[in-house]
Amino acid sequence: QKQYEYILLSRPAPGVGLITLNRPKALNALCTPLFKELNEALVDLDADDEIGAVVLTGSNRAFAAGADIKEMKDKTYADVYKNRFLENWSEMTALSKPVIAAVSGYALGGGCELALMCDIILASPTAVFGQPEINLGVIPGGGGTQRLARAIGKSRTMELTLTGRNFSAAEAASWGMVSRVVEEGEGKVVEEAVSMAGVIASKGRLAVQAGKEAVNAAYELTLEEGLKTERRIFHGLFATHDQKEGEHGCIELWGHSWLMR
Ligand code: CAA
Repeated sequence: QKQYEYILLSRPAPGVGLITLNRPKALNALCTPLFKELNEALVDLDADDEIGAVVLTGSNRAFAAGADIKEMKDKTYADVYKNRFLENWSEMTALSKPVIAAVSGYALGGGCELALMCDIILASPTAVFGQPEINLGVIPGGGGTQRLARAIGKSRTMELTLTGRNFSAAEAASWGMVSRVVEEGEGKVVEEAVSMAGVIASKGRLAVQAGKEAVNAAYELTLEEGLKTERRIFHGLFATHDQKEGEHGCIELWGHSWLMR
């Protein structure tokens, strides 16, 4: 297995890959080498036949406190434009397997944007989200204004982007940005995310990939195009062994329950 400096990799349950951001002294600030490692590890897990779903987490104190301000502070327009600064962040959105963010502590700036790039977000009651870039004289650059607006609507996104105020796990849940806030306790959010990833990993891999692709189409297409895309993908699954096994198995099960009546 590859050696990483800024992340930890493990397999906490069958079919589940866990990536833990591990730059504790900087509250997991997302420096360029960290993101390079994260992208590499995600691509490897996506290609690994033993893996069905991935969990991404940080520490109890911080999921990630944003892009690395120390790295950014002296960059010039020419640097960031020429080197397409942060453009590689969105590589993870091209993965075919689902990624679940398990967020504890600070998820600020790029940290909040990183969570928003995942497919599902679970939050600990300690999670603190925010897009504080306005306080640094900039705006979110990792997709915050776009993904947050799609997740929680214009007025809230505008307020959060322009005031830079943090928001709580409870607010994020009530706005539909996170699936739910898990029970309090150290490590609970990772436990829950691993358990959810295990359930997903136990399903037919092609159907999971197709489900993710279809839901993501809802963010890019008109309703009509999206419905057509969904139907095409749905029809395509009739060519798979999983569909035959799944639906025939289901009818057998119903058959047994009818016999029991
Ligand atoms: N970049 C680099 N280092 C960071 C960092 C960041 N985003 N956030 C925290 N750190 C470092 C601190 O510099 C400090 O390191 P030193 O001890 O070497 O100085 C260490 O992490 C611990 O931080 P604090 O002492 O500040 O811890 P705290 O508990 O007092 O405060 C905090 C925690 C409120 C998260 C505070 O660290 C903070 O406000 N951080 C910056 C948050 C932020 O503005 N993020 C947005 C970044 S811009 C961005 O992300 C752009 C984009 O859209 C991609």
